[in-house]
Amino acid sequence: MEFVKLADGNQLPLLGLGVWQVPDGGTCEQAVRWALELGYRHIDTAQAYGNEASVGRALRDSGVPRDEVFITTKFYPGSQDPVAEAEQSLRKLGVDQVDLYLVHWPQRGPAWAWPGMERARERGLAKSIGVSNFGADDLDQVVAAGSVVPAVNQIQFSAVEYRQGLVGACRRHHIVPEAYSPLGTGRHLGNKRVRAVAEHAGRTPAQVLLRWCVQRGIPIIPKSTHRERIAENAQVFDFTLSDEDMAALDALDRTKGTSKALERRWWR
Ligand code: A2P
Repeated sequence: MEFVKLADGNQLPLLGLGVWQVPDGGTCEQAVRWALELGYRHIDTAQAYGNEASVGRALRDSGVPRDEVFITTKFYPGSQDPVAEAEQSLRKLGVDQVDLYLVHWPQRGPAWAWPGMERARERGLAKSIGVSNFGADDLDQVVAAGSVVPAVNQIQFSAVEYRQGLVGACRRHHIVPEAYSPLGTGRHLGNKRVRAVAEHAGRTPAQVLLRWCVQRGIPIIPKSTHRERIAENAQVFDFTLSDEDMAALDALDRTKGTSKALERRWWR
Protein backbone atom coordinates (compact mmCIF):
# COMPACT_ATOMS: atom_id res chain seq x y z
CA MET A 1 0.00 0.00 0.00
CA GLU A 2 1.29 3.45 -0.90
CA PHE A 3 0.70 6.47 1.31
CA VAL A 4 0.86 10.26 1.21
CA LYS A 5 2.16 12.10 4.22
CA LEU A 6 -0.15 14.76 5.63
CA ALA A 7 1.14 18.06 7.04
CA ASP A 8 0.36 16.84 10.58
CA GLY A 9 2.61 13.80 10.07
CA ASN A 10 -0.13 11.19 9.63
CA GLN A 11 -0.17 8.92 6.57
CA LEU A 12 -3.13 8.60 4.22
CA PRO A 13 -3.29 5.48 1.99
CA LEU A 14 -3.45 6.48 -1.69
CA LEU A 15 -6.30 4.05 -2.32
CA GLY A 16 -9.53 3.74 -0.37
CA LEU A 17 -13.06 2.46 -0.87
CA GLY A 18 -15.68 5.21 -1.04
CA VAL A 19 -19.17 4.32 0.16
CA TRP A 20 -21.12 7.37 -1.02
CA GLN A 21 -24.53 6.20 -2.30
CA VAL A 22 -24.00 2.69 -0.96
CA PRO A 23 -27.19 1.74 0.89
CA ASP A 24 -26.85 1.05 4.60
CA GLY A 25 -27.03 -2.62 5.57
CA GLY A 26 -25.91 -5.75 3.72
CA THR A 27 -24.74 -4.03 0.53
CA CYS A 28 -22.45 -1.65 2.38
CA GLU A 29 -21.16 -4.30 4.78
CA GLN A 30 -20.35 -6.64 1.92
CA ALA A 31 -18.53 -3.99 -0.13
CA VAL A 32 -16.39 -3.00 2.86
CA ARG A 33 -15.71 -6.63 3.77
CA TRP A 34 -14.64 -7.41 0.19
CA ALA A 35 -12.41 -4.36 0.07
CA LEU A 36 -10.67 -5.34 3.31
CA GLU A 37 -10.24 -8.94 2.05
CA LEU A 38 -8.73 -7.59 -1.17
CA GLY A 39 -6.16 -5.52 0.73
CA TYR A 40 -7.81 -2.10 0.97
CA ARG A 41 -6.86 -0.39 4.23
CA HIS A 42 -8.81 2.84 3.85
CA ILE A 43 -12.59 3.35 3.95
CA ASP A 44 -14.29 6.69 3.33
CA THR A 45 -17.75 7.33 4.78
CA ALA A 46 -19.72 10.34 6.08
CA GLN A 47 -22.48 11.22 8.51
CA ALA A 48 -24.62 12.24 5.52
CA TYR A 49 -24.26 8.81 3.86
CA GLY A 50 -26.13 7.11 6.72
CA ASN A 51 -23.94 3.99 6.53
CA GLU A 52 -21.34 4.44 9.29
CA ALA A 53 -22.82 1.58 11.33
CA SER A 54 -22.44 -0.81 8.37
CA VAL A 55 -18.84 0.29 7.86
CA GLY A 56 -18.18 -0.37 11.56
CA ARG A 57 -19.78 -3.82 11.46
CA ALA A 58 -17.81 -4.84 8.38
CA LEU A 59 -14.60 -3.61 9.96
CA ARG A 60 -15.20 -5.65 13.11
CA ASP A 61 -16.28 -8.77 11.16
CA SER A 62 -13.23 -8.57 8.90
CA GLY A 63 -10.84 -9.35 11.74
CA VAL A 64 -8.40 -6.77 10.32
CA PRO A 65 -6.85 -4.95 13.29
CA ARG A 66 -8.33 -1.47 13.78
CA ASP A 67 -4.93 0.21 13.65
CA GLU A 68 -4.31 -1.12 10.13
CA VAL A 69 -7.34 0.60 8.61
CA PHE A 70 -7.62 4.32 7.85
CA ILE A 71 -11.19 5.49 8.47
CA THR A 72 -12.53 8.82 7.24
CA THR A 73 -15.88 10.30 8.16
CA LYS A 74 -17.33 13.75 7.55
CA PHE A 75 -19.16 16.30 9.66
CA TYR A 76 -22.60 17.07 8.22
CA PRO A 77 -22.59 20.89 8.26
CA GLY A 78 -26.37 21.11 8.64
CA SER A 79 -25.67 20.09 12.27
CA GLN A 80 -24.25 22.46 14.83
CA ASP A 81 -21.49 20.80 16.78
CA PRO A 82 -18.60 18.89 15.20
CA VAL A 83 -17.60 17.41 18.59
CA ALA A 84 -21.04 16.01 19.43
CA GLU A 85 -21.46 14.66 15.88
CA ALA A 86 -18.00 13.06 15.98
CA GLU A 87 -18.95 11.29 19.21
CA GLN A 88 -22.05 9.92 17.48
CA SER A 89 -20.01 8.78 14.47
CA LEU A 90 -17.57 6.95 16.74
CA ARG A 91 -20.47 5.16 18.43
CA LYS A 92 -21.89 4.11 15.07
CA LEU A 93 -18.51 3.05 13.71
CA GLY A 94 -17.64 1.27 16.97
CA VAL A 95 -14.19 2.85 17.13
CA ASP A 96 -12.45 5.17 19.62
CA GLN A 97 -11.11 7.55 17.01
CA VAL A 98 -11.37 8.18 13.28
CA ASP A 99 -8.23 8.76 11.27
CA LEU A 100 -9.66 11.71 9.36
CA TYR A 101 -12.67 13.94 10.03
CA LEU A 102 -13.70 16.39 7.30
CA VAL A 103 -16.16 19.29 7.11
CA HIS A 104 -18.32 17.82 4.35
CA TRP A 105 -19.00 21.13 2.54
CA PRO A 106 -18.78 24.86 3.39
CA GLN A 107 -22.44 25.38 4.25
CA ARG A 108 -23.06 28.65 6.16
CA GLY A 109 -19.50 29.67 5.33
CA PRO A 110 -16.15 27.91 5.34
CA ALA A 111 -14.82 28.82 8.81
CA TRP A 112 -17.55 28.54 11.50
CA ALA A 113 -17.20 24.78 12.03
CA TRP A 114 -13.42 24.78 12.18
CA PRO A 115 -12.96 25.58 15.91
CA GLY A 116 -15.24 22.59 16.66
CA MET A 117 -13.18 20.42 14.30
CA GLU A 118 -10.01 21.50 16.13
CA ARG A 119 -11.64 20.60 19.45
CA ALA A 120 -12.59 17.16 18.07
CA ARG A 121 -8.93 16.61 17.23
CA GLU A 122 -7.69 17.92 20.59
CA ARG A 123 -10.03 15.51 22.37
CA GLY A 124 -8.63 12.62 20.35
CA LEU A 125 -11.85 11.92 18.45
CA ALA A 126 -9.99 12.34 15.16
CA LYS A 127 -6.31 11.93 14.36
CA SER A 128 -6.41 14.39 11.46
CA ILE A 129 -8.96 17.01 10.43
CA GLY A 130 -9.71 18.51 7.06
CA VAL A 131 -12.35 19.77 4.67
CA SER A 132 -14.22 18.70 1.55
CA ASN A 133 -15.72 20.60 -1.38
CA PHE A 134 -13.77 23.74 -0.41
CA GLY A 135 -12.68 26.06 -3.23
CA ALA A 136 -9.48 28.15 -3.11
CA ASP A 137 -11.29 31.12 -1.47
CA ASP A 138 -12.84 28.84 1.17
CA LEU A 139 -9.39 27.42 1.94
CA ASP A 140 -7.93 30.91 2.41
CA GLN A 141 -10.69 31.71 4.91
CA VAL A 142 -10.43 28.53 6.96
CA VAL A 143 -6.63 28.73 7.07
CA ALA A 144 -6.81 32.38 8.22
CA ALA A 145 -9.38 31.55 10.92
CA GLY A 146 -7.85 28.43 12.46
CA SER A 147 -4.78 27.42 14.38
CA VAL A 148 -4.48 24.08 12.54
CA VAL A 149 -4.40 23.96 8.73
CA PRO A 150 -6.77 21.35 7.21
CA ALA A 151 -4.73 18.24 6.40
CA VAL A 152 -6.90 17.31 3.41
CA ASN A 153 -9.38 18.84 0.98
CA GLN A 154 -11.47 16.07 -0.55
CA ILE A 155 -12.79 17.26 -3.92
CA GLN A 156 -14.54 16.08 -7.04
CA PHE A 157 -11.47 15.35 -9.15
CA SER A 158 -10.61 13.37 -12.26
CA ALA A 159 -8.98 13.92 -15.64
CA VAL A 160 -12.28 15.47 -16.76
CA GLU A 161 -12.52 17.61 -13.59
CA TYR A 162 -8.84 18.46 -13.31
CA ARG A 163 -9.25 21.70 -11.22
CA GLN A 164 -5.58 22.56 -11.51
CA GLY A 165 -6.10 25.95 -9.86
CA LEU A 166 -7.61 24.29 -6.80
CA VAL A 167 -4.88 21.67 -6.61
CA GLY A 168 -2.33 24.52 -6.74
CA ALA A 169 -4.14 26.33 -3.89
CA CYS A 170 -4.13 23.12 -1.81
CA ARG A 171 -0.42 22.61 -2.41
CA ARG A 172 0.39 26.19 -1.42
CA HIS A 173 -1.30 25.61 1.95
CA HIS A 174 0.28 22.12 2.31
CA ILE A 175 -3.20 20.59 2.13
CA VAL A 176 -3.42 17.20 0.40
CA PRO A 177 -6.09 17.17 -2.32
CA GLU A 178 -8.02 13.88 -2.32
CA ALA A 179 -10.17 12.75 -5.26
CA TYR A 180 -13.77 11.68 -4.88
CA SER A 181 -15.70 10.48 -7.93
CA PRO A 182 -12.41 9.71 -9.73
CA LEU A 183 -14.44 7.74 -12.32
CA GLY A 184 -16.95 10.59 -12.70
CA THR A 185 -19.44 8.37 -10.80
CA GLY A 186 -18.92 5.95 -13.69
CA ARG A 187 -19.67 8.48 -16.44
CA HIS A 188 -16.06 8.83 -17.62
CA LEU A 189 -15.59 5.11 -18.20
CA GLY A 190 -17.20 5.28 -21.63
CA ASN A 191 -15.19 8.33 -22.72
CA LYS A 192 -13.55 7.67 -26.10
CA ARG A 193 -10.14 9.02 -25.16
CA VAL A 194 -10.14 7.17 -21.84
CA ARG A 195 -10.93 3.97 -23.72
CA ALA A 196 -8.14 4.63 -26.25
CA VAL A 197 -5.60 5.24 -23.46
CA ALA A 198 -6.82 2.08 -21.72
CA GLU A 199 -6.28 0.06 -24.87
CA HIS A 200 -2.83 1.59 -25.36
CA ALA A 201 -1.85 0.84 -21.74
CA GLY A 202 -3.38 -2.65 -21.77
CA ARG A 203 -5.56 -1.76 -18.78
CA THR A 204 -9.23 -1.01 -18.13
CA PRO A 205 -10.75 2.49 -18.39
CA ALA A 206 -11.24 2.54 -14.60
CA GLN A 207 -7.60 1.64 -13.99
CA VAL A 208 -6.20 4.37 -16.24
CA LEU A 209 -8.48 7.04 -14.72
CA LEU A 210 -7.38 5.97 -11.23
CA ARG A 211 -3.73 5.67 -12.22
CA TRP A 212 -3.84 9.21 -13.62
CA CYS A 213 -4.65 10.48 -10.09
CA VAL A 214 -2.22 8.20 -8.29
CA GLN A 215 0.60 9.21 -10.62
CA ARG A 216 -0.04 12.81 -9.51
CA GLY A 217 0.17 11.76 -5.86
CA ILE A 218 -3.56 12.29 -5.38
CA PRO A 219 -5.38 9.77 -3.15
CA ILE A 220 -8.48 8.13 -4.65
CA ILE A 221 -11.63 6.64 -3.16
CA PRO A 222 -13.46 4.89 -6.03
CA LYS A 223 -16.85 3.46 -5.10
CA SER A 224 -18.09 0.04 -6.15
CA THR A 225 -20.39 -2.60 -4.72
CA HIS A 226 -19.05 -5.31 -7.05
CA ARG A 227 -16.25 -7.53 -5.85
CA GLU A 228 -14.51 -7.81 -9.22
CA ARG A 229 -14.58 -4.04 -9.69
CA ILE A 230 -13.28 -3.41 -6.16
CA ALA A 231 -10.42 -5.76 -7.08
CA GLU A 232 -9.85 -4.13 -10.48
CA ASN A 233 -9.69 -0.67 -8.93
CA ALA A 234 -6.90 -1.75 -6.59
CA GLN A 235 -4.64 -2.85 -9.47
CA VAL A 236 -3.22 0.59 -10.15
CA PHE A 237 0.20 0.39 -8.50
CA ASP A 238 1.81 -2.09 -10.91
CA PHE A 239 1.99 0.05 -14.05
CA THR A 240 2.88 3.55 -15.15
CA LEU A 241 1.13 5.71 -17.74
CA SER A 242 3.48 7.20 -20.33
CA ASP A 243 3.88 10.99 -20.56
CA GLU A 244 1.89 10.79 -23.77
CA ASP A 245 -1.02 8.95 -22.12
CA MET A 246 -0.96 11.35 -19.13
CA ALA A 247 -1.09 14.31 -21.54
CA ALA A 248 -3.98 12.75 -23.49
CA LEU A 249 -5.93 12.43 -20.23
CA ASP A 250 -4.93 15.95 -19.05
CA ALA A 251 -6.56 17.31 -22.21
CA LEU A 252 -9.96 15.97 -21.09
CA ASP A 253 -10.31 18.72 -18.46
CA ARG A 254 -13.64 20.49 -18.72
CA THR A 255 -13.07 22.82 -15.74
CA LYS A 256 -10.57 25.07 -17.52
CA GLY A 257 -8.18 24.60 -14.62
CA THR A 258 -10.62 26.10 -12.13
CA SER A 259 -9.82 26.91 -8.50
CA LYS A 260 -13.45 26.20 -7.56
CA ALA A 261 -14.47 22.91 -5.98
CA LEU A 262 -17.88 22.64 -7.64
CA GLU A 263 -19.82 23.94 -10.61
CA ARG A 264 -22.81 24.56 -8.39
CA ARG A 265 -23.53 24.33 -4.69
CA TRP A 266 -26.27 21.96 -3.51
CA TRP A 267 -26.84 23.80 -0.24
CA ARG A 268 -27.99 27.31 0.59
P1 A2P B 1 -20.96 -0.20 -8.99
O1 A2P B 1 -20.96 0.36 -7.60
O2 A2P B 1 -22.31 -0.69 -9.42
O3 A2P B 1 -19.88 -1.22 -9.21
P2 A2P B 1 -16.93 7.00 -8.66
O4 A2P B 1 -15.96 6.28 -7.81
O5 A2P B 1 -16.31 7.96 -9.62
O6 A2P B 1 -18.01 7.68 -7.85
O7 A2P B 1 -17.67 5.92 -9.59
C1 A2P B 1 -18.53 4.96 -9.02
C2 A2P B 1 -19.39 4.35 -10.11
O8 A2P B 1 -18.59 3.65 -11.05
C3 A2P B 1 -20.37 3.36 -9.55
O9 A2P B 1 -21.57 3.49 -10.29
C4 A2P B 1 -19.71 2.00 -9.79
O10 A2P B 1 -20.68 1.02 -10.02
C5 A2P B 1 -18.90 2.27 -11.05
N1 A2P B 1 -17.62 1.53 -11.06
C6 A2P B 1 -16.70 1.51 -10.07
N2 A2P B 1 -15.62 0.81 -10.45
C7 A2P B 1 -15.87 0.35 -11.70
C8 A2P B 1 -15.14 -0.45 -12.60
N3 A2P B 1 -13.93 -0.91 -12.31
N4 A2P B 1 -15.71 -0.74 -13.82
C9 A2P B 1 -16.95 -0.27 -14.13
N5 A2P B 1 -17.67 0.50 -13.31
C10 A2P B 1 -17.15 0.81 -12.10
